[in-house]
Amino acid sequence: MDPVIRLSKVTVRYRNNGRGFLTAVAGVDLSVMPEEFVSIVGKSGCGKTTLLKVIAGLIRPDEGEVFLNGHAFNGSKKKIGVMFQSPLLLPWRTILKNILLPIEILGENPEDYVERALMLIERTGLKGFENSYPWELSGGMQQRAALCRALIHKPLLLLLDEPFSSLDAITREEMWILLESVFLYEKYTTVLVTHDIREAVLLSDRVIVMSGKPGKIKAEVKIPFSRPRSLDLQYTKEFNEYVAEIKNMLGE
Ligand SMILES: Nc1ncnc2c1ncn2[C@@H]1O[C@H](COP(=O)(O)OP(=O)(O)OP(=O)(O)O)[C@@H](O)[C@H]1O
Ligand SMILES: [Mg+2]
Repeated sequence: MDPVIRLSKVTVRYRNNGRGFLTAVAGVDLSVMPEEFVSIVGKSGCGKTTLLKVIAGLIRPDEGEVFLNGHAFNGSKKKIGVMFQSPLLLPWRTILKNILLPIEILGENPEDYVERALMLIERTGLKGFENSYPWELSGGMQQRAALCRALIHKPLLLLLDEPFSSLDAITREEMWILLESVFLYEKYTTVLVTHDIREAVLLSDRVIVMSGKPGKIKAEVKIPFSRPRSLDLQYTKEFNEYVAEIKNMLGE
């Protein structure tokens, strides 16, 4: 079985304001298998977003290669769904129209996807808000709409860059459970970048720990808990041992 995404010896350099180049990530090897949920954790500036942008095909690495399903990756938007820290919904479009936006960008007929959009809206608890505007929704509801938008075209790979970091603790936990249920229902291959180690341990099959300057993969930790997972997992000894292990790796 081919990995959905495979990075081989990926190095990315940025131009550094006339002071030469900054190596953001160096020699990164990373594979994500079908239906696997992988999180990337690491200190601020260690290259997590850079790595996610390489996976999304938004940045071409200066060295190394990227493969999608075993083929050299050309950055096809159709295969990737992305969600960022802020929902980035267009204020002049209704929730339904925001969710259908990727379909328009891909040049397909939005009408063909209305049924799927309404199904996602219902699954994410937004039923009744399809004709509302983003500013009529709470922050957590806007992030749920952003999740629907990321999933509307059934992407091969779901990429999440700190999607819940602006939410309060309770809403964030609600989003964890929502993401877990969506993940189990449609079996997405998912890569999540997060600062929140508890979030990474609760949701992932595998946590990748990065070190910085330049960004490298320092370790990876397999999280073997069965699914579906519930929030109560957080109060078990095993869960807290994984959190402590990863915190120690980051602290060094
Ligand atoms: N477009 C850019 N131009 C120049 N330097 C950049 C650019 N984007 C990122 N960098 C630098 O590359 C390094 C890695 O940045 P990146 O955004 O990948 O880190 P990160 O791990 O996502 O950090 P955070 O947790 O704060 O989001 C940082 O030193 C950053 O300053
Ligand atoms: Mg980042």
